[in-house]
Amino acid sequence: GLGRFEHYMLKEIFEQPQTIENAMRGRLDDEEATAHFGGLNLTPQQLRRINRIVLTGCGTSWHAGLVGEYLIEEFARLPVEVEYASELRYRNPPLAEGTMVFAITQSGETADTLAAMRECKRKGLPSLAICNVVGSTIAREADGGVYLHAGPEVGVASTKAFTSQVTVLTLLGLFLGRMRNLSYQAGQRIISHLRSMPEVVQRTLECNDAVREVAEKYFQARNALYLGRLYNFPVALEGALKLKEISYLHAEGYPAAEMKHGPIALVDRDTPSIFVVPRGHIHPKVISNMEEIKARKGPIIAIACEGDDKVAEIADDVICVPDTEEFLQPLVTAVPLQLLAYHIAVLRGCNVDRPRNLAKSVTVE
Ligand code: F6R
Repeated sequence: GLGRFEHYMLKEIFEQPQTIENAMRGRLDDEEATAHFGGLNLTPQQLRRINRIVLTGCGTSWHAGLVGEYLIEEFARLPVEVEYASELRYRNPPLAEGTMVFAITQSGETADTLAAMRECKRKGLPSLAICNVVGSTIAREADGGVYLHAGPEVGVASTKAFTSQVTVLTLLGLFLGRMRNLSYQAGQRIISHLRSMPEVVQRTLECNDAVREVAEKYFQARNALYLGRLYNFPVALEGALKLKEISYLHAEGYPAAEMKHGPIALVDRDTPSIFVVPRGHIHPKVISNMEEIKARKGPIIAIACEGDDKVAEIADDVICVPDTEEFLQPLVTAVPLQLLAYHIAVLRGCNVDRPRNLAKSVTVE
């Protein structure tokens, strides 16, 4: 049931401290400073022979894949490609031996994701699933895989599945990294940061009231831009997708530095830009991207770390989130963007849990 919540989407957003915990349960190994998965069904020899990874999925799951690309490349130094399942299935990419394919899917029933996985299996590649629904078609057909254990996701807009997928991909990066060049110490550091995430995301949820106030200010806008860089670029895409699907507002996600190559022409007084700008080594660069928007009189909403005076000086509105390691920031920064889409949709009188034209699982191509 809904408990104290008015909608499933809100309930599922607030479940994230728990669902992130569930995605990690029993999988962290302090002794070896790595992660373990019960169901990959590959021998250590097979796993070490992997020299390339393809992550495929649709929509939100594809966005999680983009975060996974950055994580796995950083931790395991393996080349990763992220492919829309609908493209992969009809392309004819060279899939050399040593490539491992992960189908990322909440429902396990998405037609394009299933077809892309089948196509890769046909070509002899080990195809694994990162999936939420136990016993779903993709989970059954995969050679092995990792379950999210996020519990049923009822809201059509995916929220907790995204953060669970990102958590599992972090574990996977750790696991593949520790079989290669990641040190014991580095592995331990990653584990300790991961362990703190349920509590950090719990604190992040305290931004809900601030997000609602921002939503009240902007819900009549017609367009919005979502901007971030590195680990927060896929988060920007995901924030824009949430807004589009449940509030029917036009939104676009971009890597912040790409704005000057075209989309900045869209900026005016009525077009808010939502900057995802937590602390990190790219922070000063994102600040200059914010100044570019400011100079064109675009309103700026910033998702930033507590006490970030530099951002507060430039932005019209700031939503504060806890400080975290850069590679774990998506788990934190996705939350205010989910809430922003939620509150804007509610203020616009939209059916948050069952948006028009959308179904929870897309079983047609
Ligand atoms: C977005 C959303 C969709 C799904 C996509 C893939 O909120 O729900 O974009 O993410 O249809 O679905 P799964 O993950 O079930 O394969």
